[in-house]
Amino acid sequence: MSKKLWGGRFELPTDKFVDEFNASIHFDKRLYRYDIKGSLAHVEMLAKQGIIHPNEAEIIKSGLLQILDEIEEGKFEFKTEQEDIHMAIESRLKEIVGDVGGKLHTARSRNDQVAVDFRMYMKDMVDEIRKYLKELMETILKKAEENMDVVMPGFTHLQTAQPILFGHYMMAYFQMFKRDYERFSDAYRRLDENPLGSCALAGTTFPIDRFFTTELLGFKKPTENSLDSVSDRDFALEILSAASICQMHLSRISEELIIYMTSEFNFIELSDDYCTGSSIMPQKKNPDVAELIRGKTGNIYGSMISLFTTMKALPLAYNKDMQEDKQPVFRAIDDLIGSLKIMSPMINKMKLNKENMLKAASKGYSTATELADYLVRKGIPFRDAHFIVGQTVKYAIEKNKKLDELTIEELKGFCDKIENDVYDFINVENAAKNKNSYGGTGIESVKVQIENAKKYLNNL
Ligand code: ARG
Repeated sequence: MSKKLWGGRFELPTDKFVDEFNASIHFDKRLYRYDIKGSLAHVEMLAKQGIIHPNEAEIIKSGLLQILDEIEEGKFEFKTEQEDIHMAIESRLKEIVGDVGGKLHTARSRNDQVAVDFRMYMKDMVDEIRKYLKELMETILKKAEENMDVVMPGFTHLQTAQPILFGHYMMAYFQMFKRDYERFSDAYRRLDENPLGSCALAGTTFPIDRFFTTELLGFKKPTENSLDSVSDRDFALEILSAASICQMHLSRISEELIIYMTSEFNFIELSDDYCTGSSIMPQKKNPDVAELIRGKTGNIYGSMISLFTTMKALPLAYNKDMQEDKQPVFRAIDDLIGSLKIMSPMINKMKLNKENMLKAASKGYSTATELADYLVRKGIPFRDAHFIVGQTVKYAIEKNKKLDELTIEELKGFCDKIENDVYDFINVENAAKNKNSYGGTGIESVKVQIENAKKYLNNL
C-alpha cells in the first residue's frame, strides 16, 4: 500500500475499489501542464513572500520541470492510488527532491489548485476554438464572395419560399458563427480570473501575494471571494453553453449540406475526401462527416446538462461531486474543436450545382410575392394583391405553367393593371438580386454584408 498524501489520520488503507472509484487521474492527467505551471508560480510567490527559502523554491522548481519532461516524454507513471494529477505530481516531486517537496503545498489546497488548472486549460481551449471559428468564418466569406450571385431557393417550412442569393445564404451562417465567437470571447473575460490562493475555502493566514501569481499565470485579476472561487463552475457552464449553441449552428448547416447533396435536391457536391462509401451499395457516397458533426451535437448538449445537474444544489464550498466537471467539458471541447476543424475545409471544397439551384429556385411559384408587390406598386392594396395572385397561382397550377410562362393576356385576366414590364419583376434572378433593403438578399445588400464581414475579421 502506498501511503496517501492526506493519510495522517487514517488507520485503514483505502478500499481498492474506492481507490478506483475516487480516482480522477485517468482523465485529469490532461491538466498536467497547467498543474505544473500553477505550482511553479505558487512556489515562486512563496519564496518572494519569504514563506519558504529561495533555495527551497529553486529545488522544487527544478523537480517540477523534471516531472514536466517525464510526462512529455511518456516516462511518467500515472497510478490510480495517487487519485488525481495534483497528488501524482506532488508525490513524484517528493521522490525527486525529498522532503522539501512537501513545502510546495503551503498555503494552497487542491480545491484552488484544480480551479486554477481548469481555468487555465479552458482559456487555452477558448483560444483554440476562436482560432478555428475565425478560419470557418474566413472560408464562409470566401465561398459567399466567389458565388455571390448564384440564385437558389430560400425555404420556410422546407417549402420553396423566395429566391435568394447563395452569398446571402452563406452570410447567414457567418452571422451565427460571429455571435458564437463573441460568446466565447465574452465567457473568456470571466474565465480570466485567478482562484489560486483561495486555498481550501477560506484563504490563509500566510502573507501570500495573489496579485503576483495572477501576473505570473497571465490572468487579468485574482478572484475576489475564496468561497466562491473554489465552489463555482459557472465558467465551465458558460463554455458548455456557448459550445452547445455553436454546435447547434454547425449541426444546422450540416443538415442542409446533407439535404442539398441528395439526388432529389442536387444543389451541392461534397468533396470525396469528406464522404464515405457503403460496404454493400457500390453507388453510394454518403455525407458521413456532416452527419457526425450533427450527431456530436447530442454529446455537447448532454455534457452541458450533465454539469448543470452536477452543480445543482451543491452546498458551498468544494464538494467531490465537482470532480465530475472535467469529463463533460473535455468531451464537449474535443467534439466542438473537431467539428470546427473539419467544417471549414468541407465547405471550402464543396461544389455548387449552380444550374440546378437556379432551376429549383424557379419552381414552386417562388416569385408570387413579387407579382403581389408589382400590383401594390400599381396602387392595389397588398391584401387584395395577395388574393389576386393566389388565384393566379391556382390557375397556373391547373395549366401546369410557371408564373412567367403565363401570357400577358392570361395575366391581365386577373388584373387589368398588369403590363408587359411584369416579366422583369417576376423573373427569378431579378427577384433575388433586387431585394436590397438593409440585410436583404439583393446583390448590393450582400456586398455590404461581405464588406462588413471583412472589416470584422480584420479586427479580430
Ligand atoms: N480531483 C479533485 C477534483 O477534480 C481535486 C480536488 C480535490 N479536493 C478535495 N478536497 N478532495 O475536483
